[in-house]
Amino acid sequence: MSSVMTEAVKTHMKDPKTISWPEFEELSPSQKGQYLVGPDGNLTATVYAQQFDRKLLDHLIELAELIRSSDYNEQLRAYVKTLLNTKSCALYFTQPSTRTFTSFSLAAQTVGMITEEIRDPEMSSLYKGESEIDTLLTLAELVDAVIMRQAEHSVIERFAYEVAHRGLPTRILNGGSGPVQHPTQALLELYTLVSHFDLANIEGGTFPVAIVGDLARSRTARSLSYLLALYPRIKQIFIAPEELQMGDDLTDYLDEHSIAWERCEDMDEKLPELDAIYMMRIQDEYGKTSEETRKRYAEYRLTIDRAKAMKPDACILHPLPRREELPIEIDADPRAMYWEAVNRGKFIRIALLLHMFGKDDIEKIKARAY
Ligand code: NCD
Repeated sequence: MSSVMTEAVKTHMKDPKTISWPEFEELSPSQKGQYLVGPDGNLTATVYAQQFDRKLLDHLIELAELIRSSDYNEQLRAYVKTLLNTKSCALYFTQPSTRTFTSFSLAAQTVGMITEEIRDPEMSSLYKGESEIDTLLTLAELVDAVIMRQAEHSVIERFAYEVAHRGLPTRILNGGSGPVQHPTQALLELYTLVSHFDLANIEGGTFPVAIVGDLARSRTARSLSYLLALYPRIKQIFIAPEELQMGDDLTDYLDEHSIAWERCEDMDEKLPELDAIYMMRIQDEYGKTSEETRKRYAEYRLTIDRAKAMKPDACILHPLPRREELPIEIDADPRAMYWEAVNRGKFIRIALLLHMFGKDDIEKIKARAY
């Protein structure tokens, strides 16, 4: 039994056997999330960043920190390796990936899981005319968890619904779904931010965080924005050329949750006041990008000169891969935290896997550390 079942989760848990696909499809992501929780209150499918609340985030971060420290503790390391050693997972990644794929694969192996991978749809039965849902349902019969990335967000939604509705025990984790969601990337950015600023304990004032770039088509920007909304002190500043600005669906969500936000086109105007900045590349695989937009995008580079205008203790993040928007010279700046974030990513994914299988009791894990 997990120690983190929040009151909100308990009172809002719903039975997925009672809902049809057309009814499910109509729900908001937060409502859908109510059907993607097991009897212990733990997530069974992590599809949307809106499925996390503060209590669960704090818990995952604490667990990730503990496991991260196990790098120096042989005994803890050996124990962690036994936690899911009867489980298997399939990494179904049909879009390019280096970091997320490797990070999830290593996370799964660190907790003892057997991993299997499918990366090339040409080599699967999709090639013989099988639907993607059938391919995924096949995996659901064979493994205990499916970790997936694909260009169509609707595929993971349908799969998560089918698995829950059929009462299958398979866990599902979203490693990036089209331009819509990338919840674990958001988790690792947040984990990095929180470990530098101790956001949980700071009171009063506002904490401006800028999200800069192709906000219209970036799943990492969207998922991070939902998670940041769990911290009421954070003001979200969306810096982008008008045609790539953050969608109204997201800013409506922030309004509903009384979160301060602002859209802005001028990066230089905002830099001196920021506590953190999240940069990203142009997401040109999701539709045509005009030459004009490309030219404008070049104005949103975080150059060495521009970085000088930022606060001395600000935090610079980027999901990577990067292009010209973040020159490699910035890596030497002590405020650059994107490489450290890659490292933290593995540990927050370990924490999430443990949570989803109900193996996330921190006290129990700690007791085995020494
Ligand atoms: C991001 C992604 O795939 O959405 N990368 C990642 O997972 N670290 C960002 C991107 O591709 O721009």
